[in-house]
Amino acid sequence: MLVVGGPASKALAEEVGRVTGVDVAQVDWKLFPDGESYLRLDRRLEGETVVIVQSTHPPQDTHLLQLLLLTQTAYKLGAGEVMAAVPYLAYSRQDKMFREYEAVSAEAILKLLGLVGLKGLWTFDLHEPDILRDTEFEAKNLSAGSALYQYFKEKDLIGAFAVAPDKKALRMSEEAAKVLGGGYGYFIKARDRQTGEIQVVGKSQMDVKGRDAIIFDDIISTGGTIAAAAKILKDQGAKHVYAACVHPLLVKGAIERLFESGVKEIVGTNTVRYKKQRRTKRLRDRINAGTYPPETTIIQVSVAQILAKALEKRGLW
Ligand code: R5P
Repeated sequence: MLVVGGPASKALAEEVGRVTGVDVAQVDWKLFPDGESYLRLDRRLEGETVVIVQSTHPPQDTHLLQLLLLTQTAYKLGAGEVMAAVPYLAYSRQDKMFREYEAVSAEAILKLLGLVGLKGLWTFDLHEPDILRDTEFEAKNLSAGSALYQYFKEKDLIGAFAVAPDKKALRMSEEAAKVLGGGYGYFIKARDRQTGEIQVVGKSQMDVKGRDAIIFDDIISTGGTIAAAAKILKDQGAKHVYAACVHPLLVKGAIERLFESGVKEIVGTNTVRYKKQRRTKRLRDRINAGTYPPETTIIQVSVAQILAKALEKRGLW
């Protein structure tokens, strides 16, 4: 097997290379002034089984196109089989027509990957794992939860209460409670399909008074879901509230929204690349005023070991 480090996930690909001892092919790339991608691999791939590591976090369309181009190019350079580790699969939340006439994006993306000849796919914590049911290639939805639970265990948050911001995220808080031993609960969430506005309602009084609580979700995008849950937990007397997710997309304003809702720390994984927040004057003022914690960067734990293990299980190294 040979790993190819796609432009979106070069660091993760290198880490997988270090864990597995497998060689990592480099990709020379740039964006043309009009936004199109230029890609060039550093070698021929004669007969190799290739695993391209390329996430599809924002800018999703660029990263997806790069994945398609790399798959096609790998075959042109002689690869025997081309597979991909796509730690965050873009468009996967649009898995059906929520309103009539909508594009079912998840289906279209998986179809495209099949069309360029992808033979295998590993991804993490899909919002709806069922989208992989009918793919033309083998596909696995891995879970990065263990890396997050381990982080909190090592941080000595044993006994913290694990919270799911909606019923769909329940699995993670249940698993976390097994590791941390502090019990778990969930909220009910409603999202307006047109405006995107979120309403999280307390299912019942959670057992958080004077205790640490950790909210676990698959994705933090705008931060609206977790911020709404964090406010309720704070109102219910939680001591500290932590926000944890697998895919920290953290689109514009999410970090501020989370800290302003009372979140003490944001923890995610490296399934997506996170750009460090600029220390603007506004941010510095807030840190000085104590509205923000002094360290406003988020913690990113790695999924490299989990991915390496999955590739080993498949007999690739
Ligand atoms: C959807 O239900 C997901 O599990 C997440 O809760 C959601 O994508 C988070 O989005 P946001 O951070 O924008 O509330």
